Amino acid sequence: MKDTNKPTRVSRSGGKLLYVVHMLLFLSLGFVLGMASIDKFPYFNIIPFVVPSLPSPKPSAPPTPPPPPTQKPQMGLMSFLPPSGVIHNMTDEELFWRASMAPKLRGTPYHRVPKIAFLFLVRGDLPLRPLWEKFFAGHQELYTIYVHADPSYTGSPPEDSVFYGRMIPSQKTKWGDVSLVEAERRLLASALLDHGNERFVLLSEACIPVRNFTAVHAFLAGSATSFVDSYGDGDCRARYDRYFAERTNITIEHWRKGAQWFEMDRALALEVVADEPYIRMLRGFCAGRWRCLTDEHYLPTLLSLLGWARNANRTLTYADWKRPQGMHPHTHEAAEVTEELVRRIREDAGDRCFYNGARNGICNLFARKFAPDTLEPLLRLAPKVMGFG
Ligand SMILES: *[C@@H]1O[C@H](CO)[C@@H](O)[C@H](O)[C@H]1NC(C)=O
Ligand SMILES: *[C@@H]1O[C@H](CO)[C@@H](O)[C@H](O)[C@H]1NC(C)=O
Ligand SMILES: *[C@@H]1O[C@H](CO)[C@@H](O)[C@H](O)[C@H]1NC(C)=O
Ligand SMILES: *[C@@H]1O[C@H](CO)[C@@H](O)[C@H](O)[C@H]1NC(C)=O
Repeated sequence: MKDTNKPTRVSRSGGKLLYVVHMLLFLSLGFVLGMASIDKFPYFNIIPFVVPSLPSPKPSAPPTPPPPPTQKPQMGLMSFLPPSGVIHNMTDEELFWRASMAPKLRGTPYHRVPKIAFLFLVRGDLPLRPLWEKFFAGHQELYTIYVHADPSYTGSPPEDSVFYGRMIPSQKTKWGDVSLVEAERRLLASALLDHGNERFVLLSEACIPVRNFTAVHAFLAGSATSFVDSYGDGDCRARYDRYFAERTNITIEHWRKGAQWFEMDRALALEVVADEPYIRMLRGFCAGRWRCLTDEHYLPTLLSLLGWARNANRTLTYADWKRPQGMHPHTHEAAEVTEELVRRIREDAGDRCFYNGARNGICNLFARKFAPDTLEPLLRLAPKVMGFG
């Protein structure tokens, strides 16, 4: 092409019309030349729609050979989907913000296998770890593990353990305190970063599974609800305390209590990490007040404030409150661990528990509290009674 077609700079005062006329002339010339050249390039059957380039300030340089193709980093989908580990340097604020992001599209442009995130809120060691190892064995694709231990804890499971390298950056917690809720939210947020995680289970070092992985996965994957324990003032549960409701702007109709050990779906987990007003209020009001028992009030009350209907209002983690030890449920010792006990836990109140609107005979998937010395008898019973190991 000759220089006659060099685009002319149009001054603003020259008006748009002159510019449009120039453009049309230029485009029609390009079209005519393009048509004419089709004869010479018979295989080039797409007419290029040439867009004029902006005037270049430099005189045209002698043609240089094209630079060798460089491997520029490009954005990909998979690079951000499964995080490579659980270690990060984000503050809570940064972590929750990032975790609260959710795709608007329902489908996924990749094969997504819904996983269960097991969130272990512990002090340090996991004395029942060998039992859990047997529980998880052979199901790598279907679960992820996150551990929130006391920040002072320096131990580590062996390298061949499924718990190895799964300890998230943590902060100090105190019984009954809002810091426990912060730890739960930290665990949820860490697990939300993995878009494969669909259900989220909170456990402690004193928890055990009472069914095998296949049964647990099928139960959770098929459930239409989350399982967050929740009872209110009218539910005649002795442990309900009005103390808190009467001192905050949350009214008694919304005030709920429940065992801390939840199981929830992704939609609810997102709501929990995205909550700002209520956690801020509890943080302010409950500092130094153990009677708040924030860990037992926050979640069920949040659900009630959100009007969250997809909740079974019960936990899937058995605890023996018939024999409380102070403010805690009974802790099982080795001598108590029998086939009969495990069967009783598995069948506990089975006729009263609803699952997707019907009674299916299953109330508990997990149980607490089990002392470290219960490991041996539990390992012995697991294959026969619980169906794993
Ligand atoms: C956090 O880690 C990222 C990735 O390793 C790094 O680029 C960034 O500088 C770190 N930020 C801080 C505050 O340490
Ligand atoms: C309670 O107070 C907090 C802050 O003081 C506010 O953000 C929240 O919306 C209030 N909630 C209700 C139910 O009034
Ligand atoms: C759980 O309680 C809420 C109200 O607090 C209610 O709307 C919901 O239907 C209950 N769910 C079940 C399964 O009973
Ligand atoms: C797992 O539990 C289910 C339901 O209790 C049972 O049908 C199945 O046989 C168990 N699997 C194994 C490998 O024992």
